[in-house]
Amino acid sequence: MSLLVIAAALLFAPLPSCTKKAEGPLTAEQIAEKRVARGRSTYMAQCLSCHNADPKRDGSLGPAIAGSSRELLESRILRAEYPTGYTPKRTSKTMPAMPHLKNELDALHAFLNLP
Ligand code: HEC
Repeated sequence: MSLLVIAAALLFAPLPSCTKKAEGPLTAEQIAEKRVARGRSTYMAQCLSCHNADPKRDGSLGPAIAGSSRELLESRILRAEYPTGYTPKRTSKTMPAMPHLKNELDALHAFLNLP
């Protein structure tokens, strides 16, 4: 019997997460912020071993890559190539292709193109 009371109490107790006011859809600004944050964390995890924490500066192995176009990021990261007509900053071929990052290109692009 007492178990039933507890069960009923739990059932009707307002859980904090349920009482929180429903939030509307994200604003364009919030979506942009989330994309930059995602790009930053991918950059710090996947690129920092060779590129600088400040992408405007050269890193231990890789050049400065701030301002990279979406097209450049796609060719370089997915296929270890450069877009046709693009003059690479370095002639070396040290950086491996990282095709597993195919879903991170937009976020990386947003982070690398912060003003
Ligand atoms: C193993 C070291 C290494 C890692 C990890 C690495 N890079 Fe590179 N990256 C380089 C080097 C070195 C170059 C210069 C070309 C070469 O030798 O491949 C380069 C070149 C580039 C270029 C071309 C720059 C230009 O304009 O010519 C881009 C863009 C780039 N890297 C982006 C990234 C991003 C984004 C990541 C993380 C997802 C990353 N790299 C991870 C070493 C690395």
